[in-house]
Amino acid sequence: MATDSRAKAMAAAGEDVVNFTAGEPDFPTPDPIVEAAAAACRDPRNHKYTPAVGLPDLREAVVAKTARDSGYAIEASQVLVTNGAKQAVYEAFATLLDPGDEVLLPAPYWVTYPETIKLAGGVPVEIVTEEDTGFHVTVDQLEAARTSRTKVLNFVSPSNPTGAVYTRDEIEAIGRWAVDHDIWVVTDEIYEHLVYGASKHFSMPVVVPELVDQCIVLNGVAKTYAMTGWRVGWLIGPIDVVKAAAGLQSHCTSNVANVTQRAAIAALTGDLSAVAMMRAAFDRRRRKMLELLNEIPGVECTEPHGAFYAFPSFKAVLGREIRGRTARNTVELAELFLDEASVAIVAGEAFGAPGYARLSYALGDDELVDGITRLAKLLAE
Ligand SMILES: Cc1ncc(COP(=O)(O)O)c(C=O)c1O
Repeated sequence: MATDSRAKAMAAAGEDVVNFTAGEPDFPTPDPIVEAAAAACRDPRNHKYTPAVGLPDLREAVVAKTARDSGYAIEASQVLVTNGAKQAVYEAFATLLDPGDEVLLPAPYWVTYPETIKLAGGVPVEIVTEEDTGFHVTVDQLEAARTSRTKVLNFVSPSNPTGAVYTRDEIEAIGRWAVDHDIWVVTDEIYEHLVYGASKHFSMPVVVPELVDQCIVLNGVAKTYAMTGWRVGWLIGPIDVVKAAAGLQSHCTSNVANVTQRAAIAALTGDLSAVAMMRAAFDRRRRKMLELLNEIPGVECTEPHGAFYAFPSFKAVLGREIRGRTARNTVELAELFLDEASVAIVAGEAFGAPGYARLSYALGDDELVDGITRLAKLLAE
């Protein structure tokens, strides 16, 4: 977000900046969803407090959507509607963790996970994954990191920042390992619909039903329906966990804004045509970005199979002199790219992965080509 702010400030000052830092679709929210929200504004029912756990219709819509998209059968009482999936992440950890509890955190990770774990008094235990496994954590790695304090595994597929998508077999092995060792799994499914090629999304409690009583699923409308600014997410879990998280939420933020809840109902009860259109565009850009990045000497990018991020290694570029400057790490490289090519990327250090950087392909096709071409030219000097 810091790089993004600087890039946006440069753009506002008239500079031609290509910004690869976006964590959100570049499409507007589909019209029927916007219309539902506009109608909701005029309905006085939405001008009042509603239950902190979420509108009954939205909880039911989440139940139906979860059955439709994941084959996971849940009850409405297992759903807590939150201000974006981000609040669900925090509430999941705040509810599960006692001080000193350890959370296994495969790296590279989304920046919010370690911070929310620490806010909840927990201890994030990073497990480094590399590109040779496609950034997939293995059961052996999890087992090596397990201690008597291990309480939770933080799992995400498709992943931000790597775009990794786990196979059914991998998810099954990880889920069984968690069951065997009484470890909770907090599984983030926010990118479930953004998978490409032969990759498929599988929900861990569906693949391993024995996990249901020790699993929290996180999700939301942000990425699927281009609704990042609306702030609607949810968590699904055992009823006692949902009650505890709801208690926390009722004292912190109460109900999510009713107008956006109504918009989310329209999204979830509608069809998936808008996400199909976005997925096709993201897939085209994904393949273009992968091709262009791998053509740059010193840059290596494994194929991302989901979300809308590429996560190339710039290790071979570090230490090289570029326009009289030598970047020793990817933070310095990102600054150099912004200063010298007006291209914004997110340094891997933010995700626990020095030497790498995240480039979002949620931007226009021509802009994408222009940005990577600028980097290629700069690195060829
Ligand atoms: C993996 C992951 N989970 C959750 C979120 C949060 O989504 P929301 O906008 O619903 O809070 C993000 C947003 O970037 C994300 O990348």
